[in-house]
Amino acid sequence: MNIGARVVKNLIKGPFRVVRTFQRLLDPAYRLQHRANLSVKSNIPRDRIKLLEQNPGQSSDRECRLLAHLAMEADKSGSIVEIGAYKGKVTAWLVEAAERTKGEARVISIDPHICGTWEEYQETVQKFELDNRGLKIHKELSHELGQSWEEPISMLLVDGSHEYEDVVTDIDDFVPHVLPSGYVVFDDARGKIFPGVTRAINECMRPRPEFEEVGMIKNFAVFRRKAA
Ligand SMILES: C[S@@+](CC[C@H](N)C(=O)[O-])C[C@H]1O[C@@H](n2cnc3c(N)ncnc32)[C@H](O)[C@@H]1O
Repeated sequence: MNIGARVVKNLIKGPFRVVRTFQRLLDPAYRLQHRANLSVKSNIPRDRIKLLEQNPGQSSDRECRLLAHLAMEADKSGSIVEIGAYKGKVTAWLVEAAERTKGEARVISIDPHICGTWEEYQETVQKFELDNRGLKIHKELSHELGQSWEEPISMLLVDGSHEYEDVVTDIDDFVPHVLPSGYVVFDDARGKIFPGVTRAINECMRPRPEFEEVGMIKNFAVFRRKAA
């Protein structure tokens, strides 16, 4: 494209870009992701971030940065609970973030690993020495643990079974234990691929008056319990 054509293109697109930038600046979800990128950059060394990003997993690097930010920001007197660990990518990010909080936040990771992910999960645990860094692993279904759950939670990630009944059960079992100002994040909450997740959120999470919806970020639906 010659210079003249490029100038004309920029003149036409310029106003749209300005409007889009303003729209984004007003969007709390966009601002949260922006803060997450900055806080991860300033709290976790660059070579460490690179290592964490190389891990296999289903969440994108951007999503992992957001989760790490929420874990660093959440109330330190509760645990960070991950339902659905898969190969441990998010687990490693959460442990890294928990260490950078001033309190005693620890990470609890729940997954039965019925689809053959246990070995790769263990590789991640060993590579990052997660079990020496306060990680508690539960190789079981979330409901097996959730039905007698009593610990306070500062941040909850719901990314286990995506069936409607199971997501409802996760909400019923764990969400009441989330502390004031604590976060609840649902993965795969956007679109029609996992209708069970969307339905459970609509019916069982959105009506809870003690929570406010922070917004949809990528595939995440993010909620925060109102301050006490
Ligand atoms: C979508 S993957 C999680 C991806 C992971 N958060 C990541 O980003 O790499 C879903 C995981 O949930 C686990 N899972 C399925 N049903 C579960 C349940 N009822 N409780 C806990 N974990 C469950 C599966 O074994 C699988 O590893």
